[in-house]
Amino acid sequence: MNVDDLITAAREARENAYVPYSKFKVGAALRTASGRVFRGCNVENLSFGLTICAERNAVFAAVAAGETQFETIAVVADSVQPVTPCGACRQVLIEFSSDLQVVSANLQRASRLRQSILQKAFAGELAV
Ligand code: THU
Repeated sequence: MNVDDLITAAREARENAYVPYSKFKVGAALRTASGRVFRGCNVENLSFGLTICAERNAVFAAVAAGETQFETIAVVADSVQPVTPCGACRQVLIEFSSDLQVVSANLQRASRLRQSILQKAFAGELAV
């Protein structure tokens, strides 16, 4: 699946977003090294802090299917500027792929961001 198709998959996933509170739908499509694509949308909750972003839902779907090597994630929202993953999602993405390509898009255009947006994530060694 090429990048345009990945953006289309993210747009389709976005339609399923559950966003009664923010009304801000986000979709994500994550392409693995093996070429599989996993989709995610944001899912909100009345207890607002329990909301999960589209990006993390795509990652968790991939991991549940046994995939942990990721190449590209496309993120789509109806925003003025293409949206970039939040800090929590960056931390989760870099757990698996420090070399991930991030493609952010709104409904008009896309922009590619390199893995530099994932830098500065927590990487401490746990003293156990
Ligand atoms: N959201 C995402 O799903 N991904 C992002 O990259 C930014 C924010 C969601 C969380 C919440 O449901 C809504 O967008 C507004 O913040």
